[in-house]
This record gives sequence, structure tokens and C-alpha cells, in this order.
Amino acid sequence: MHIGVLGTGVVGQTISSRLVEIGHTVTMGSRSADNPKAAEWAASAGHQGFAGTFAEAARQGEMLFNCTAGMASLAALDAVDEGDLDGKVLIDVANALDGSGGFPPRLSVSNDDSLGEQIQRAHPSARVVKTLNTMNCQVMAHPRRLGGSHVVFLSGNDAEAKADVSRLLFEFGWEPNELIDLGDITTARGPEMYLALWVRMFGAIGSGDFNIGVVR
Ligand SMILES: NC(=O)c1ccc[n+]([C@@H]2O[C@H](COP(=O)([O-])OP(=O)(O)OC[C@H]3O[C@@H](n4cnc5c(N)ncnc54)[C@H](OP(=O)(O)O)[C@@H]3O)[C@@H](O)[C@H]2O)c1
Repeated sequence: MHIGVLGTGVVGQTISSRLVEIGHTVTMGSRSADNPKAAEWAASAGHQGFAGTFAEAARQGEMLFNCTAGMASLAALDAVDEGDLDGKVLIDVANALDGSGGFPPRLSVSNDDSLGEQIQRAHPSARVVKTLNTMNCQVMAHPRRLGGSHVVFLSGNDAEAKADVSRLLFEFGWEPNELIDLGDITTARGPEMYLALWVRMFGAIGSGDFNIGVVR
């Protein structure tokens, strides 16, 4: 499948490389067509990797990832032609962390709204699935790097979209019993607000190589 990855940071790079590794083709999108990080990544990915603007990545991708800075995700998606989002699964892994006031960062949206909901409201024809935002990007893309069983949440209004995303998560190495479908897109609030704990655990553990395991 051709997948559009919006974002040139460590998350966009890690997700894109994993997608290529498991056989997909990726267009990595950026604000500018000549972003050096995107160009370098595309060169390293060979014939399966392309670089372009956010709009070009959305146009090329049959499925899309939002890996942009959460505070800028709405602006990044505004640069995309609405028709290129129509009916497409948009996997949102972003967290709206505002570090302008120092550590710990605050969330720019929380409690009775979430970034996932804001994106879905702004682009109603896209099928937004919030997932993977509760862990480091290495864990997102290579879940078996952690020893035990651990979980990934899914939030979204469209059941078929969540099924499509689940299949992609299995390709990453996630096990079926590790996926927790929380419900519609309003359920993205919890996973997004979990970041308040994640950043503190990162400090306490001294590494991002951890995730949530649910004991039943
Ligand atoms: N680091 C992790 O392991 C991790 C884990 C879970 C979730 N996340 C979330 O994943 C997302 C990506 O994180 P990251 O560290 O890879 O990258 P990042 O530095 O948070 O974001 C980089 C991307 O955001 C775009 N961007 C920045 N400011 C913008 C603006 N004003 N308008 C439009 N686009 C703008 C950049 O565009 P250009 O390409 O043009 O520079 C770039 O593509 C974030 O939302 C983060 O919270 C990260």
C-alpha cells in the first residue's frame, strides 16, 4: 500500500522506515517540498520512499499518518487538499504538548476535548483513528522490543477504519490481544491525557522503552 506520512521528525522517520521494511511505499510529507530530512529519508528508502509536501503526501497516500507536532497538526492538515482526505484512514499519533512553559509540558487540549476530536471535526470526511500516541515511537513500530505483553489503544468513529489500522498494527508486530478498542473518537481524551504520566515515568525510569500492560 502507498502510505502518506505527514511528519519528518523522529516519529515520522521511524514509522516510515518500519512501513517500508514491511513492504509498503511511503511519501513523507513536510511543510516544504525540499525538506532535507525528508529527502535524506527518501534516499535511504530506495524505490519505496518519496518526499514531498504535506499536500503531496496526502494525495499519494491511500492511508495517512499524522506524525506532526501536536500543536501544529491542525495547521499541517490545513495544507492538505480536503479531497485528498476524503474517505481515507488518518492515523493520528500526535500529542498536543506545549513545552513553551518549560517542563513538564502542558496539553493544549484536554478534559472535554482532544486533538483526535479536533482533527476529526476539522476534516469530517477523513476517518480518524487515534492510536500509538501512548508510547515511544520505537515501541510503536517494534512492539516486540519489550519483553512482556503490553497494549495499544484505538479510538475512532469508523469500525472499518479501526479494522484497517488493526491489520497494520499486526504487521508492525502487535498481537490481537494487545489491541484495546476504546470506542469513538471522544475516547482519545484518555490516551492523550496519559501523556502527563508518560513524561513523568520517562523521568523516573530514565528511558522511553516501556509501555502500559493491563492486568485483568
Ligand atoms: N517522540 C516520540 O516517540 C513520540 C511518541 C508518541 C507521540 N509522539 C508525537 O508524535 C508527533 C511527532 O513527534 P516528533 O518528535 O517526530 O516530531 P515533532 O518535532 O513534534 O514534529 C515535527 C513535524 O511537525 C511539523 N511542524 C512543526 N511545526 C509546524 C507548523 N507550525 N506547521 C506545520 N507543521 C509543523 C514539522 O514540519 P516540517 O517537516 O516542515 O519541519 C515536522 O514534520 C508529535 O505530535 C509527538 O507528540 C511522539
